[in-house]
Amino acid sequence: MSRVSPSPISVWRPIRTDTFLLGAPHYPEHVDESYWERDAERMAAAGFNATRMGEFAWHIFEPREGQFDFTLFDKAIDVLGRRGVKTILCTPTATPPRWLTAKYPEVLRVDGAGRAASHGSRQHADTCSPVYRAHSKRITAAMAEHYKRNPLVIGWQTDNELNTTESRSYSAAARTEFQKFLQARYGSIAELNRAWGGDFWATAYDNFDQVVLPVDQATGFAGPGHILDYHRFLAFATARFQADQVEILRAANPDWFVFHNLGRLDDIDVRGQFSRDLDFLGFDVYPLLYDEMRRMGGHALAQAHYLDVARGFTGNFIVPEQQSGLGAQPGFSTLTPEPGEMRRMAMSSVARGADGLMFFRWRPAHFGAEIYWMGLIDHDDVPRRRYDEARQFAGEIGSIKDKILGTHVRMDVGVAGADFDNQEAHRTYPMGLPSPEDDGLLLYRHCYREGIACGFIHPEDDLSPLKALYIPHWLIWKPEWTARIEAFARGGGTVIVGARTATRDGNNQVIRQTAPGFGLSALAGVTVEEFGRLAPADGDELFSLGAGRTGGSRRTPLATESSRRRYTLAYNNHEITAGHLYELLEPAEGTEVVAAWSNRFASGKAAITARRVGEGAVIYVGAYLTDDLIAHCILGMLARAGVHPLLPDLPEGVEVSIREAADRRLMFILNTREQPVRVLGAPDGLDLLTGASVENHAVNLGEYGCSIVQMTSSRS
Ligand code: GAL
Repeated sequence: MSRVSPSPISVWRPIRTDTFLLGAPHYPEHVDESYWERDAERMAAAGFNATRMGEFAWHIFEPREGQFDFTLFDKAIDVLGRRGVKTILCTPTATPPRWLTAKYPEVLRVDGAGRAASHGSRQHADTCSPVYRAHSKRITAAMAEHYKRNPLVIGWQTDNELNTTESRSYSAAARTEFQKFLQARYGSIAELNRAWGGDFWATAYDNFDQVVLPVDQATGFAGPGHILDYHRFLAFATARFQADQVEILRAANPDWFVFHNLGRLDDIDVRGQFSRDLDFLGFDVYPLLYDEMRRMGGHALAQAHYLDVARGFTGNFIVPEQQSGLGAQPGFSTLTPEPGEMRRMAMSSVARGADGLMFFRWRPAHFGAEIYWMGLIDHDDVPRRRYDEARQFAGEIGSIKDKILGTHVRMDVGVAGADFDNQEAHRTYPMGLPSPEDDGLLLYRHCYREGIACGFIHPEDDLSPLKALYIPHWLIWKPEWTARIEAFARGGGTVIVGARTATRDGNNQVIRQTAPGFGLSALAGVTVEEFGRLAPADGDELFSLGAGRTGGSRRTPLATESSRRRYTLAYNNHEITAGHLYELLEPAEGTEVVAAWSNRFASGKAAITARRVGEGAVIYVGAYLTDDLIAHCILGMLARAGVHPLLPDLPEGVEVSIREAADRRLMFILNTREQPVRVLGAPDGLDLLTGASVENHAVNLGEYGCSIVQMTSSRS
């Protein structure tokens, strides 16, 4: 696999590679050497071409400060390499050895109550700490130097799921580094005070040395400007920590590819330096975990959503860890993929943009905090159904990789996503309202079930392949984004702008102009005259403080008042329940009122407006989305924008997506259920997995069955 420099970040970007990485993260240090030959044989027999190793093995690479020992991994890499299985190494900085934390305790993260993290788990070291950065560079340099001429080492993963266990630190180092970051950002303390609004609650500072971290243990709430900058700082420090390592690896061997495996995505600016430094991103995929954590309505949907969001960051990706079996830590356990389902979940990852995939993990550990996180081989070293499915998957994808690589995932509907400031601006002041991602998820869910090609895209990306773009209440807005969406609309696109969009500036301050600001009001032909909170439409709590980062009193929902204030809007003679927030809109001349409020003092006032712009339209929705609003209004708008399901009558539980390039189109039709299903209306083409032609426009899928149809028709 020879490295080609990546093209600029874009949702439409495939990974530039001719190898589809197939394999498993592997921990040779967890078993004795008598297993190693057998492991290599089995991996080769499964069609694997890669493993990933070393991310938690710093104590083996450097057993004592400055003394390095690569024997174990040299041997393991060699045994696998002789069977054609190459190695991706990881910088092992998620778990510093005990000698390091004992000798340099200042590298430990500190929580809001001032308690240092203890040794004995992972991600306890503070990526803000200059002392820890120095050690991280040392171990990276030693490993890079040792492996730079080893042809069996093909690339690197930096660290492991940075910020997934914990992203925050309130250490002395974090505070000093935060102050330096602010000094560089604002230049003078007067500027910082202006940006944060120091005249509110006497939060102004005399100099940068006085600036504090916004700690959870504050007596009340910290200001939204202060909190946003803390998270910008954490993202900056995380990217800087990684950049130290990337620079060393690239200098040692420019042919190595370098990526990171993202997990929880906290405090990582996915379109910033963090991603620009890498060849591509990796996303770890644990569908059963996501569904259970967030109750999203099914793990197939949860996985598709997670990956469609993730693809919006930089384009196609690899999956360095794909769930294979039961997953457990002491505090929880997930359901187990049923027979056939592990392969289906892996196919779904490919369908959503994976250009490489590894099953987590080769075998489960017998000790440590994840003894029941299952792998492909069982504890007793017996390969069973999970190994067989991995082997089937690797054989299938390995044989059609040339068709898959080089394609991107089709999107007709884009939901604005991948913006760090907007994600964080919401979190600084959630008020119990859904985040932009939650709001976008509602629309996504409908599209997923209907078989509409929907994904996530940043407004700075190329919008032209889309038919419609939904902007879910992006509070922070930049004037140049207005020009971009105007160009999209002029070219025939439909833009749907959600309530509260463009109401804060880059300092997270509320704008002084009539909303929506930054030129959006003129483009949409509408002003917001009043806004307020609606009673919950979906039974959520009016005063939920769930997402808050600091203390505060919990209030009980006002049931009677709530039901009285349930607002509807009238659209096409339909009464539709609106979500969370109302805005009373004033249309400009030439702007059409599409729906009006129908209750109480708001009756008759505009709730949704539309304005023709060039060949397209800009629609403004003065409320948050609800299922009702999407089903009875938004889907119709999308249809008028030329958006149609990829398959006409998608059976429940079947997911569909298309990967395409100029010369080919592959339709993935995947049965996420255990009941066999017949899918009608399929396109003419060849099923690449069976080699058979699609007959009578029907595809029969067994339990968790998968079909990849190379379509004969050109794009509509
Ligand atoms: C991932 C992590 C792995 C392993 C896995 C199962 O988040 O990268 O190291 O912990 O989850 O819990």
